[in-house]
Amino acid sequence: EEEFGDLVVALPRKEQFLVGRLYKGFWLPEYFAPGMLAFQRRFTPRPDDVVLTSYPKCGTTWLKALAFAAMARDAYPPAAADHPLRRLNPHACIPFMEDIFIERREAMLDGLPSPRLINTHTPYSLLPEKVTTGGGCKVVYICRDPKDMVVSLYHFIRRLQPDLSFVDTFESVLDGTVPYGPMWDHILGYWHASVMHPDRVLFLKYEDLLQNTGEHVRKLAEFMGRPFSAAEETEGTVASVVELCSFNKMKNFEANKTGTTEGNYNSMAHDAFFRKGVTGDWVNHMSSEMASRLDEIFHDKLRGTVLT
Ligand code: A3P
Repeated sequence: EEEFGDLVVALPRKEQFLVGRLYKGFWLPEYFAPGMLAFQRRFTPRPDDVVLTSYPKCGTTWLKALAFAAMARDAYPPAAADHPLRRLNPHACIPFMEDIFIERREAMLDGLPSPRLINTHTPYSLLPEKVTTGGGCKVVYICRDPKDMVVSLYHFIRRLQPDLSFVDTFESVLDGTVPYGPMWDHILGYWHASVMHPDRVLFLKYEDLLQNTGEHVRKLAEFMGRPFSAAEETEGTVASVVELCSFNKMKNFEANKTGTTEGNYNSMAHDAFFRKGVTGDWVNHMSSEMASRLDEIFHDKLRGTVLT
């Protein structure tokens, strides 16, 4: 997007792992910023759209898989051997807006059947106005313990930048200059929106999903307007969705072991989206002093909200 490209080059710049541009309080990855701005200004939502949002490395891929499996379960029964999620990476099933708009492929959005599922990392305050002012569409957000996010981000970015150090990643999260950071402001935007508009914004945590996936799949389906029926409960459809999207299943599908995300920044290998899939891996990466420093900052920023 040339016009948005021009805007972006005029913004404050920081050489971080992906090069950030500061826009309205957020460090947007330079590569995605023009696409994000085009999405913000040009996207026309339909009333039954569901926008899946997240802070990066907080469970986007999993949320996309669960939402797709639940939403499309009539056309694609989750236990079917030829289910799209057994053949395609979840990112190929639900379009990522930053990519779509940067590549000027937005016409494909018109061709998607309703209800559409779309995905973005855009902060809540920068979402298209028609999405946030209640055009009717719904927003689902997932976040995660920032300590585990740091670890996940570090391993992910190392695929692109092998000399990246963990300490540099950690410090960038703490000074807010990570992609789409500061992470706490990203979380707060969606948190407040979910409190103000619980009918339109669903706020999820990776840890809760891991602890009771079935309960959250039910919640998600109901929120998206596709609650599971009593007959489906009896048939075990929820359990089939959970099973299909489980970390061990997904990690081992051929489509996720090989190949790269199409058109994405630097063509990230699919297997980079499936590393460990657990909570608490931070203990293997940071000292207790580092953990306390991070916790203190996030507690301070999120006190009275996500962290009560
Ligand atoms: P780890 O690096 O801690 O393993 P995102 O999809 O937002 O990029 O987040 C990636 C994180 O979600 C990675 O965390 C990845 O392993 C985890 N993940 C991917 N698929 C998952 C699944 N089906 N179940 C649980 N976690 C999953």
